[in-house]
Amino acid sequence: MLRLMRRLPGLPLPPALTLLPYLYRPFPFLDAMGKRYPEGFTLRFPAMPTPAVVFHHPDAAKEIFALGADDAHAGQINAVLGPILGKTSLLLLDGKEHLRQRKLLMPPLHGERMSSYGARMIALTEASIATWPERERFPVHDRLQAITLDVILRVVFGIDEGELFHRLRERLVGILELATNPMFLLPWFQRDLGPLTRWNTLARALREADEMLYGEIRRRRASGERGDDILSLLLDARDEQGEPMTDSELRDELMTLLAAGHETTATALSWGLRWILASKSLGARLVRELETEGALPGLAPERIARCALLDATVREALRLQPVVPMVGRVLQRPARIGGYDLDRGTPVLVSIYLIHRRPDLYPDPTRFDPDRFLRQRFAPHEWLPFGGGIRRCIGMAFALYEMKMILATILARAELRLPLFGKVREVRRGVTIAPSRGMPLVMERRAS
Ligand code: HEM
Repeated sequence: MLRLMRRLPGLPLPPALTLLPYLYRPFPFLDAMGKRYPEGFTLRFPAMPTPAVVFHHPDAAKEIFALGADDAHAGQINAVLGPILGKTSLLLLDGKEHLRQRKLLMPPLHGERMSSYGARMIALTEASIATWPERERFPVHDRLQAITLDVILRVVFGIDEGELFHRLRERLVGILELATNPMFLLPWFQRDLGPLTRWNTLARALREADEMLYGEIRRRRASGERGDDILSLLLDARDEQGEPMTDSELRDELMTLLAAGHETTATALSWGLRWILASKSLGARLVRELETEGALPGLAPERIARCALLDATVREALRLQPVVPMVGRVLQRPARIGGYDLDRGTPVLVSIYLIHRRPDLYPDPTRFDPDRFLRQRFAPHEWLPFGGGIRRCIGMAFALYEMKMILATILARAELRLPLFGKVREVRRGVTIAPSRGMPLVMERRAS
């Protein structure tokens, strides 16, 4: 058996004391670790038999992302999400099964189809802005999350009104809100300890949502009703053996797309807005670009999609505050990563956050500077907010497109500013890192 030839250092603390700052002060914790251990470090978490090895050099990320389906698995790392997403969720599968599901899910989230979603994204954003209060402080994160949830419900199910939509939406909001408690990332807290506990409430909401999801799957299968939504495409999808997806596979993938696809995008949007509003000139430059590209006043999706500075702004927001700060794999065979020989069974993590803050890649890394993306192209192991390799986020194109549509609509339709007081911090919401206090801002006036 191979041993670590050179050992990576780690904090000389009991696992529970490492977990707390990781859960509650993730960015300062990672900053301190990155400074102290420039080559990478090990992390020991409670109930984890083998310490995880964290790398924050882009070359190591490249090596990890190049690992094949049989070399490394991610399902084990994502297992905490199992009770909510289901055991056939793409996030939990590995090997051949993972590749099969990924192929089935890919087409609706790519290329041509994107443009058919643009007008709906813009309309939902305009409808939301119409309800924002004027000249008073309000948390925008919830509003953005409602927009991204409605987008994903529409795109995934093809429904945006009616009783089912409202009931399902209500249950999902409840589930996702409860699931953002960082404690639920720990298997110990994923237990039903009686009717008054949060896990019990979560389990009940999940049962009710499942009933609706299975009901809709069966109804659509039986009626043959199809639209331009993802469920329609998945109902007709066949794998290489000509087999369709089962009801429970469909349920798990729908839940996965809903859960993975809206909170992440809303959080990235909150950070993006914060930086645009903190800058003296960026908002005006973005509006000028929309005008020059002919995207205003009508908000034409294909013209918004062409705006280079808007694209750079979205990328820079995802660089500076990557919503998911770390991704991981468990080695299924020994491998050499970052010059270290690692045993089979070792969890290897890529710190997206620390790579994004390397001054050798991004000079003056804590500064929000979208122009760096206009001056330079970054490799997939240098800019990696969506992870990489065969597990890279399948919603990447969708999320980037959606962020541009929503930000352009907000810039065109609302005059916003940051409140005079109150610093925004990074706080954990489940697996994502979001702005504190729901990212408060003030709308001075609505534009027509
Ligand atoms: C700004 C928004 C988003 C961010 C930052 C984000 C980030 C990520 C990351 C870091 C991963 C793990 C990748 C890895 O392990 O290498 C991931 C996986 C995934 N994401 Fe996203 N995501 C976003 C939006 C979306 C959207 C809109 C969808 C679907 C509509 C989605 C669906 C998924 C799925 C299904 C996976 C699992 C992929 C697999 O295991 O093969 N995500 N995402």
